[in-house]
Amino acid sequence: MTEKHITHDPIYNTVHRDDFYSLIDVDRYGDRCSAFDGIISATEDHFWDPIDAAYIDFRAAKPFDLAEDTIMPRHFTVELSCAVADRLDEGQKIRLANQSTRFMISSLLHGEQGAMSLSASLCQILRDPGAQEYAANQTREEARHVTGFTRYVETRFGKPLKAGPTLAGLMNELVGSPYVYKKLVGMQMLIEGLAMGAFSTIHAHTRDPLLRRLVQLVMSDEAFHHKFGKIWADRTMPSLTEEEHERVEAWAAQTFQKLLFNLVNAEQKQEIYHEFGLDWQWVRGSILEAFTDADRRQSMTESTNIFRVLIKTLLKAGIITDRTKHVYAQWVDMEELALEHDEVVGSDLAEATTLELREINKTRPKMVRPLRSSS
Ligand SMILES: [Fe+2]
Ligand SMILES: [Fe+2]
Repeated sequence: MTEKHITHDPIYNTVHRDDFYSLIDVDRYGDRCSAFDGIISATEDHFWDPIDAAYIDFRAAKPFDLAEDTIMPRHFTVELSCAVADRLDEGQKIRLANQSTRFMISSLLHGEQGAMSLSASLCQILRDPGAQEYAANQTREEARHVTGFTRYVETRFGKPLKAGPTLAGLMNELVGSPYVYKKLVGMQMLIEGLAMGAFSTIHAHTRDPLLRRLVQLVMSDEAFHHKFGKIWADRTMPSLTEEEHERVEAWAAQTFQKLLFNLVNAEQKQEIYHEFGLDWQWVRGSILEAFTDADRRQSMTESTNIFRVLIKTLLKAGIITDRTKHVYAQWVDMEELALEHDEVVGSDLAEATTLELREINKTRPKMVRPLRSSS
C-alpha cells in the first residue's frame, strides 16, 4: 500500500521525482516562499573550502604517528575496556583504537555522502523554488564535507572503511523515499543530530588538531541544516492529524531504536578485527558482558552523547508524545531533557566559527582551482 504524503504547509509540496514537466510549469516559479531566505543568504557568510589552505591545510598538517598515539583517547574504544584487551599487546591496542576511529570517521564520510544525495533528491521533488534553493545550497555544503572527510581519511589512513549495513540501509531508504517527512525527520533530524553529537565529541576530545579543525568547519554548516529540519517541524507538527502524528512518531521511534542498537557495534565494524585474529561474535559477547544497560544510560547523561542529542532533537521538534515516550525514557530523564535549552549541541561553536570565517572571507580572494587539461 502506498502511504499518503504529509504536507500541511504548501512549501513542502512535492512532485514525483520523474515529473520534470511540473517544475517548468510557468505558474510554479512565482510560488516561492521566503521561509528559507535567511538560511540561504547565510551560506556566503560561513563559506569555507576544504582545498584552500586559508581554511584548513591538509598538506602542512603535522604527521600523526598512528603506531604511537591514538586519535581519540583510548576510553572511546569499548573493546579496550573488556576481555578483548587481554588478547592484545600494547601496539595492537593502539592499532585497534585507531582502526575503530577510522571506522567512525568513515561512517561520517558515508553520512556526508548520504546527506548530499538526500539534499539533491529534495531538489528534485520539492515544488517550492525557495525550498529547492535551500536544498541546492545544502547539497553544495554536503559536497564540501565529502571532500573534507575524504582528504582527512587519505591523509591519516589512506582509504575509508566500508559503511556498516545499518547506516547504509537507512540512508538508502531515505534517499530513495518519495516522502518528505521521512527525508527530513530521518536525515535532517536523526542523522544530522547524530553527526552534531559526534562532531562535538570529536572536537572536545581528539588529539589530532587537523581533525579538530575539520569538524569545527563542518559544524558551522551543519547547524544550519539542523535549522532547516526545525523549520519543517515548526510548520508541520502542530497541524498533523492524529493518524499522521502517530505515523511520524512511530517511524521515528523505530528508526531511533535501530540506530541505538546497531549504529556502532562489533557486527557493523567486523572487518577491523580480522588482522588481530579476533572473531567479531566473540568481541560482541565480550563487550556485552562488560557493558550493561546501566553503563549505556550513564553515557547518555553527557550532553554530547549522540543518542541524547538525537532524543532531544525529536522531543524539541514535538515528535515524541506519551505514545512513544517510554522508548526513550528507559535511557534518559525526559523531564530533565525537556527543560534544557532548545539549541542543538555545538551551536555555540558553530556561531564562533562563522565569525572567524567572515573575517577570512573578507580578505581572502577566492582561490582559483587549476583546470585540468582533458587531453
Ligand atoms: Fe554535512
Ligand atoms: Fe548536513
